[in-house]
Amino acid sequence: MTTANHHEHDHGQAHDHHHGHGRGEHGFNAESLRNNDLLYRDVYRAALDWLDAPPGASAMEAGCGAGGFTEILADAVVPHGGTVVAFDEAHEMLDATRELIESGPHAASVTYERGDIGATPFADGTFDLVWSSRTVHHLADQLAGVRELARVVRGGGKLTLREGSIRTRFLPDDIGIGEPGLEDRLDVAFHRWFTAGVRAGGVRYPFGWTQMLRDAGLTDVTARTFMLEALPPFTDVQIAYMGRHLRRWVDNDDRRALLDDGDADVLTSLLDPASTHYVFKRPDLYLHEMVTVYVGTAP
Ligand SMILES: C[S@@+](CC[C@H](N)C(=O)[O-])C[C@H]1O[C@@H](n2cnc3c(N)ncnc32)[C@H](O)[C@@H]1O
Repeated sequence: MTTANHHEHDHGQAHDHHHGHGRGEHGFNAESLRNNDLLYRDVYRAALDWLDAPPGASAMEAGCGAGGFTEILADAVVPHGGTVVAFDEAHEMLDATRELIESGPHAASVTYERGDIGATPFADGTFDLVWSSRTVHHLADQLAGVRELARVVRGGGKLTLREGSIRTRFLPDDIGIGEPGLEDRLDVAFHRWFTAGVRAGGVRYPFGWTQMLRDAGLTDVTARTFMLEALPPFTDVQIAYMGRHLRRWVDNDDRRALLDDGDADVLTSLLDPASTHYVFKRPDLYLHEMVTVYVGTAP
């Protein structure tokens, strides 16, 4: 299986999208993925608590990226005798994950497998828990990929997808320059970019994530949304994230083409530390975002 449009996109809302600026062999950037992992750390822990993986579980992360969730998974299962497999198609991501895990206490219980989610090397029913975050939407045939992930879950085990939810917000509606509602317009542009870029050439799946899990043969399908929320003073990780979130709309030509000139000028001012409108001079930013986890149980 290939991704829907590998060379033309990143994952969506949280990655840099520079062509040829430190991006990995498959277009993802381990550094920004690591920053995201730090940003979501508490949310990831809350999501994993809710999933209530059995102590000593055999777990796998499909599309592990920079490994931040893999580490949290290992923290949860390894002390009780569990094991974790980090799975990704990109050497760069497996290396980043290995580096992270080897700096901690769980190195002996985490293994690394390179391959395609569409055809994994694992036997049927290998894992108690499979987690995949923001990766399935990159697959050319998402349902085929989810079926493959479901295949490797043991009866009674869970497949969890962290996918689309309510996107990041941190600006007030009226920021004093340009037309109010900039973030609403960026959301509209995001949809157009996602459809024309990320999903281009992919098999359409015109149903929600809950239905995809059911179509993959899973039962007891459910979902839960966790909120990422932060107010000033922001951490460096949060500031970097918000900066990237805006900058991608002016740095990347495909995205820039979806904005009108007025909004592009506003974004340039927001990102200019010398401007009176520099976004991080504002005292009223409020970072919030929904993180949704969809779960199905193998029969
Ligand atoms: C957008 S990143 C998400 C990383 C991390 N899970 C997160 O939520 O931040 C997608 C990851 O999936 C990997 N990936 C994409 N398509 C894949 C495929 N078909 N098989 C295996 N890994 C894939 C990429 O190399 C990348 O590490």
